[in-house]
Amino acid sequence: MGKDKLRRFRENLTFECFVQPEFDEVFHRDHPLKGNWNRDFFRNDNPIVLELGCGKGEYTVALAQRDPQRNYIGIDIKGARMWRGAKTATDRRMHNVGFLRTRIEFIDALFAENEVSEIWITFPDPQLKTRRAKKRLTSPLYLACYARLLRPDGWINLKTDSKHLYAYTGEVIRHYGLTCEVSEPDIYGSGFADEVLSVKTAYETRFLEMGLPITYTRFALGGRHEFPWFDWEEDDKEEKDNEAERQLR
Ligand SMILES: C[S@@+](CC[C@H](N)C(=O)[O-])C[C@H]1O[C@@H](n2cnc3c(N)ncnc32)[C@H](O)[C@@H]1O
Repeated sequence: MGKDKLRRFRENLTFECFVQPEFDEVFHRDHPLKGNWNRDFFRNDNPIVLELGCGKGEYTVALAQRDPQRNYIGIDIKGARMWRGAKTATDRRMHNVGFLRTRIEFIDALFAENEVSEIWITFPDPQLKTRRAKKRLTSPLYLACYARLLRPDGWINLKTDSKHLYAYTGEVIRHYGLTCEVSEPDIYGSGFADEVLSVKTAYETRFLEMGLPITYTRFALGGRHEFPWFDWEEDDKEEKDNEAERQLR
């Protein structure tokens, strides 16, 4: 492992905004911060927003900077990437930012019912292979997980360059009759991108350089908790997206 990576891992542990649970603190048990993020971490009662798969945490930091009345937590498993966001938040003395290094699969152990007001999912791996559809961050399995911690009036925001993930998410919304506030296939081309949507993540910058349109979907679960699995016929297609162009991952 590179020296710089090790240095970042060590420095992460010195940042007050950085939380790195041990495996046995979240595996089949609840973490002490579950239900207590406001009291024990942020020390205020402001709403909590999550960015899942935050990478360098561009959204977490930018949204937190814009909106000091809300608390933002970037979640990712890659500590060296998260270091960037945690360092920025520390240098800027931002008190409404947290970075949580864990697998998204453990969020049940980390957040209680209704503890989260909004979720951002920024450029997740689209998991194009049909047998990996369950791993898509907008699959029914994940929605059921989000429903356990998201307030009934909470929104889920997805930004992706993947046409297949965008269409899949649209199908999930239609299938369960969820409320969809925005489904925009090309936020820059259509002029839809406002100040918030124009925040660019590291992956987004690379996709834009490749000329790929960026999509945005904003939807709500509306208090629904049951998401029985369904197969989507478009997943039977061999060719999804333009896989050759998207060989970044
Ligand atoms: C394609 S990158 C996007 C990063 C960032 N959002 C961006 O747009 O630049 C996907 C990120 O999700 C993280 N990730 C993927 N699966 C994860 C999981 N199960 N738990 C936590 N993080 C995960 C990866 O570590 C990676 O940083």
